[in-house]
Amino acid sequence: MRALYIAMQAEAQGLLEALDAQPLPEQPVIGTYYQAGDWLIATSGKDRTTGVDCVGTEPAALIANDLITRHGVTSLLNAGTCGAHSSSEAEIAQAFLISPTIFNHDHRIPLPRFDEFGRGSHPASPEAASLASQLDLPTAILSSGNSLDHTERDLEIFLANGARLKDMEGSALAWVCRQHDIPLLCLKIVTDIFDLPHPAAAQFEANLAAASERLTHEVLRLRELDF
Ligand code: ADE
Repeated sequence: MRALYIAMQAEAQGLLEALDAQPLPEQPVIGTYYQAGDWLIATSGKDRTTGVDCVGTEPAALIANDLITRHGVTSLLNAGTCGAHSSSEAEIAQAFLISPTIFNHDHRIPLPRFDEFGRGSHPASPEAASLASQLDLPTAILSSGNSLDHTERDLEIFLANGARLKDMEGSALAWVCRQHDIPLLCLKIVTDIFDLPHPAAAQFEANLAAASERLTHEVLRLRELDF
C-alpha cells in the first residue's frame, strides 16, 4: 500500500480536493490522515500548542513510522516545498524528483560513525530517475534540516553534500523508510532561492500558493504512472 506525506495543509489542500480525499474517521494524535482511493494521504496536522502545521523532522518521522507499522504502508511518497541554492538556477515553482541521495546538513556529531549517522546519506527510491525521465522532470540531491533559514555551517555542509535543494522533512522520512527497508520517492517544488539576501521566509510566503498548485499537478501526473 502507498502513502503520501505532505507536511503542510496549504501544500496539500488542492490535491485533497482534486482527489476528493476523505479524513479517516479515527485520527492519530500526531498527523491528519485522509483516504484517497487506494492512497493514504497524511499531513503533519496541527500543533496542539501553537496551532501551526507540524513541519520538520520529528512529526515526519513519527508519522512515517505509524504509516508503516500500523497501516501497512510499503511505499512512501513525499510531496512538498523546498528551497533551492542559487547555483542550481532553479525557478520558483519548478518541480524535482529527488535522486540519488538525501542528506542532513544540521545534524553534526563529530564522533566516529556518529558523523555518518548524522549526515544521513539515505538512498532515494531507485525508481526516481526513471520516473523523472518519464515525467520530464529534473532530479537533484536533497539536504534536510530543521530550520527554514540556515547558518554558514549549514550552508557549508549542504554544499559538501552536493545538494541543490533544502527541505525540513525528507531526511527524516528517508531514515524511517531505510530502517523498514521500504522505498521513499520525494517530489519537491521550489518556493525560494534560499541563499539570496531576500529572506527565504518572505519568498516562501509569496510563492507557497504557486508551488502548491504545481505540487497538485505533479502528484496527479505521478498517480497516472504505474509505479
Ligand atoms: N521549504 C521551503 N523552503 C525551504 C527552505 N528554504 N528551507 C527548508 N525548507 C523549506
